[in-house]
Amino acid sequence: MAPSVLAADLGQLRSEMESVNGHVEMFHLDVMDGLYVPNLTFGAPVIEKVRPAVDAFFDCHLMVREPLRLFEALAKAGADHVTLHTDVCPDPPEAGSLARRLGMGFGLALSPAVAASVIRPHISGLDMVVVMSVEPGFGGQAFMPETLSKVETIRAWIDEEGLETALQIDGGITPETAPLAAAAGADVFVAGTAIFARPDRVEAVGRLRRAISAALSSVDGS
Ligand code: DX5
Ligand code: ZN
Repeated sequence: MAPSVLAADLGQLRSEMESVNGHVEMFHLDVMDGLYVPNLTFGAPVIEKVRPAVDAFFDCHLMVREPLRLFEALAKAGADHVTLHTDVCPDPPEAGSLARRLGMGFGLALSPAVAASVIRPHISGLDMVVVMSVEPGFGGQAFMPETLSKVETIRAWIDEEGLETALQIDGGITPETAPLAAAAGADVFVAGTAIFARPDRVEAVGRLRRAISAALSSVDGS
């Protein structure tokens, strides 16, 4: 589970993150520059301030026009991983080696209109692939079921090649949609609204986990 802090009260981000710390594997941090997407969020200075408050993995989803310019500051701020959108990453091997030299993992994100085939040549060099199930830019949007076939395709490639690449689904994840993504082969679930808009965040995480487990056991059992 990867709670997206975009849906948290950003005025009290530390305590918001502490409210789920210890119950999640990673935090998903949506860095937006107001240019690549219309929304503007936060960057390394904010990430650095909240980093000591929690001990989970810091997954940074970069929705910015010039992502490589941010790598060094993000690494210093405590980012563990950076994901870039395919259309602003002309040279994935170069971006990946820069991220790794700085001690971070590297991934590529596919917006809904981008075909899975775009990442096919690079998949063995990726720590994570992110299938976006909403248009990047804002939380609280409805899940786009048509993106599930991309999850299935990429899961098949990961398994065929015996890779350890994580397959993340991002956008509109709820206890109703998470099972669909799990059955399609996603193994990292970003959820903003479904966690931070609820009064009991730990229970919200638990509900998502139970929905995913139920979907996986019915897939296994069939
Ligand atoms: C959208 C972001 C998502 C967003 C998900 O651009 O990449 O991570 O925060 O929010 P929900 O879970 O509310 O759809
Ligand atoms: Zn995101």
